[in-house]
Amino acid sequence: MISKNTIDQVYETARVEEVIGDFVGLKKSGTNFKGLSPFTQERSPSFMVSPVKQIWKDFSSGKGGNVVAFLMEHEHFSYPEAIRYLAKKYNIEIEETEQTDAEKEKLNERESMFLVADHANTYFKNTLLDSSEGKAIGLTYFKERGFTEETINKFDLGYSPQEKDAFTKSAIKSGFQLEFLEKTGLTIVNESYQVDRFRGRVMFPIKSLSGRVVGFGGRILGDNKKTAKYLNSPESEIYHKSKVLYGIYEAKQSIAKEDVCYLVEGYTDVIQMVQSGVTNVVSSSGTALTEQQIRLIQRLTQNIVVLFDGDAAGLRASLRGIDMILAQGMNVKVCSFPEGEDPDSFAKKNSREAIESFFLENAKDFIQFKASLLLEDAANDPVKKAATIRDIVESISKIPDPIQQEVYVQSCAQLMDISENVLFSALAQLSKKAQNTRPKITPKEESFRVLKNEEPKSVSVDHSFELEKQIITILMLYGDREEIFKESILSFSEENDIVEDVKEVKVKVFEKIFLDLQQDEVELANSNFKTLFYMLIQNFQEKGKVSIDKLIPSLDGELSSLVSNILMNEEQYQLHQWEKKNIFVKSRDSQVSQLVNETILTLRKLLIDKKIEELQDQVKDKEQHHSEILEDVMSYYQLKQVVSRKLNRVI
Ligand code: CTP
Ligand code: MN
Repeated sequence: MISKNTIDQVYETARVEEVIGDFVGLKKSGTNFKGLSPFTQERSPSFMVSPVKQIWKDFSSGKGGNVVAFLMEHEHFSYPEAIRYLAKKYNIEIEETEQTDAEKEKLNERESMFLVADHANTYFKNTLLDSSEGKAIGLTYFKERGFTEETINKFDLGYSPQEKDAFTKSAIKSGFQLEFLEKTGLTIVNESYQVDRFRGRVMFPIKSLSGRVVGFGGRILGDNKKTAKYLNSPESEIYHKSKVLYGIYEAKQSIAKEDVCYLVEGYTDVIQMVQSGVTNVVSSSGTALTEQQIRLIQRLTQNIVVLFDGDAAGLRASLRGIDMILAQGMNVKVCSFPEGEDPDSFAKKNSREAIESFFLENAKDFIQFKASLLLEDAANDPVKKAATIRDIVESISKIPDPIQQEVYVQSCAQLMDISENVLFSALAQLSKKAQNTRPKITPKEESFRVLKNEEPKSVSVDHSFELEKQIITILMLYGDREEIFKESILSFSEENDIVEDVKEVKVKVFEKIFLDLQQDEVELANSNFKTLFYMLIQNFQEKGKVSIDKLIPSLDGELSSLVSNILMNEEQYQLHQWEKKNIFVKSRDSQVSQLVNETILTLRKLLIDKKIEELQDQVKDKEQHHSEILEDVMSYYQLKQVVSRKLNRVI
């Protein structure tokens, strides 16, 4: 177990904007940071990080919380995993409380697999740099390929010895269980023996976006035609081939900064490019690009340049990948190398400047690229030309943004010498077809959808939920303020009417709220709000004030997320939406005491309405105590009038 001390230290040190900045491209926006939601596929940023409050909020998915909540949500870390991650990032030594065997065993399977992978990475690295076999074979190989020591270190390259179970033996000796060696695919377990999967290979660790080693690629030395050139870790609980990109951890900062990502085919392409100084590059490791991989890039940039080897064979296969990138709403360009060159060989020969200016001159947009590629065979054949145009229009139809579609239609019309009208009608046909198979949004619906999104809740808002939230918000923001409240004292006149006396009192906001609600015997209905309510009140009573920053780390996931939702929402949208929600109209600038009064009165009114409704239902049900119930209803109506009158006055 991690000690409380360490946990506190982690919370004190970790900066939410720095931690999230490793995963999401963040831009300064006022006092906050803004970026594209890593949880949805949005195109305009609605992900907010508040350095002041040390919280984040994703308006597109509704998620939010503190720094740990982010790691748990985004990296699917468990709580201790998240703390460990942060401790590592900030060089905080982890103090462990004594661990029992049972606790050790509880470290879940994934965690154990990560540990094994991390250990293997260290083992392969050390073997490459320190063992005589590693130096003689592995290091020599890398040096021959032109990799510098810096590069080898940067990518944590390694070497796995030829002896059939050298790694497995050593790992078991270090206390790792065979079960996890097998589950990560590092060891192949047979009935009678165990062998290292990667024996006699140079090793390329594959890392997640956050830098954890999840798998390996191992290359044989030389050009032995009999075995596969590269062996890769099998799919496992921690390694999903379709979800990782080789080099993403090393490249992420530079991708976000340069605002473009180069996509290549292989491990060595990535490494060689980085060594030449082009650092914003990743590889899908020889397989067709997947949607998840595209989304991984999309968190960092909207722009991809796909780099192809000189030979044409791979080109066609990659066309599908381009359509997929377009469908994600990203901008894609394509660049091929001179005949016989691949990114590896090209980067090796050229400086960063030369490489980048080559890209600048040769990268084509996907229409130019498809056109040139397909027209090579089509030449003067009108039938083939028509097929090519249809193919291009099909790509255009994948683009979600109608404006961009239009721009591409124009460019295609020019390039292919065909009228825009014809292209638009072909596009319309395709869109229609697509609509039958998947819910594609037409331009008209798109603008409609945006409108609808802006005020979705004006009709069916849950008033009591909103009011309770408002109470919590007021407590968090103004709980310790002293305000003057007009207290009204209700009494019955001789005619049995309710009358009201007003006097002014000076109290703290939290006291006012607490006492008023208590007086009405109101309990918040939402259990999360209720918990927070008592927590806040208790804090105010004991310490006189609540420091939200200190409070958040002590909350569990749901509550912490709730608090940050409230805080962020508050700044963003909340108060000026009250009008739409038909509750009441007041800006934050108005007096806090008014806000408090309005909220409590409105909640009261709501409760009275509910009560009246209940009573009326009873009237319908039972005939007997009719008059008694009606009397109750009457007095509630009276009460409601008083409350409404007060409410009207404060409004
Ligand atoms: N690949 C693989 N398994 C293979 C061959 C290739 O996983 N048997 C993947 C690797 O990720 C490799 C990429 O496909 O990096 C591209 O293949 P290739 O161009 O053959 O490899 P290079 O990276 O060029 O490897 P090298 O330069 O070491 O020959
Ligand atoms: Mn190569």
